[in-house]
Amino acid sequence: MAPLLLLLLLLSFSSSLSANKFTVGDQKGWNPGVNYTIWTNKHKPFYVGDWLVFYYQSGTADVVQVDETAYEKCDASNPIRNYSKGRSYAFELNETKHYYFICSYGYCYQGMKLAINAQKLPPPSPPPSHPSSATLFSAAAAIFSSAAALVVLRLV
Ligand SMILES: *[C@@H]1O[C@H](CO)[C@@H](O)[C@H](O)[C@H]1NC(C)=O
Ligand SMILES: *[C@@H]1O[C@H](CO)[C@@H](O)[C@H](O)[C@H]1NC(C)=O
Ligand SMILES: *[C@@H]1O[C@H](CO)[C@@H](O)[C@H](O)[C@H]1NC(C)=O
Repeated sequence: MAPLLLLLLLLSFSSSLSANKFTVGDQKGWNPGVNYTIWTNKHKPFYVGDWLVFYYQSGTADVVQVDETAYEKCDASNPIRNYSKGRSYAFELNETKHYYFICSYGYCYQGMKLAINAQKLPPPSPPPSHPSSATLFSAAAAIFSSAAALVVLRLV
């Protein structure tokens, strides 16, 4: 029992620390006809250190990182980065900022565009507070007085 408990503790500890890997679009991947606003709302918040993995059909789709204006306009003419090789692309959200991705094949207008806000990792939760000495004192006093009451009862 004890080793299992330890394992569970370790697992929950490591999963809260390690970065998450998100498959963009889940099983639908990076494809036309998926509403990525809905996908983002389902999976947010995103934190610095998380990874996005795009699975796409090479030759009919690509992953173009753009700025906000280009994202709004579906304009792929001035990309920050452009990924079109292979069938998948893994991208690390390595900075605290907004990231924008579109597809340059015309599907962006139907929603094949992704806006991600990478947030700072939340601070670790504060350690459990120790009982104050006043609490300890009143607890001790309560025990002492009930013991004294018992003694008094015995004597009567
Ligand atoms: C992306 O790169 C490929 C290969 O270099 C190029 O053919 C394509 O035009 C580029 N697309 C964009 C939107 O820059
Ligand atoms: C984040 O990754 C990009 C692309 O690899 C790189 O240009 C940039 O310098 C990185 N930023 C940090 C803070 O590591
Ligand atoms: C995606 O879904 C959001 C929220 O339901 C909606 O506001 C938006 O218009 C949709 N986008 C497209 C391209 O259908």
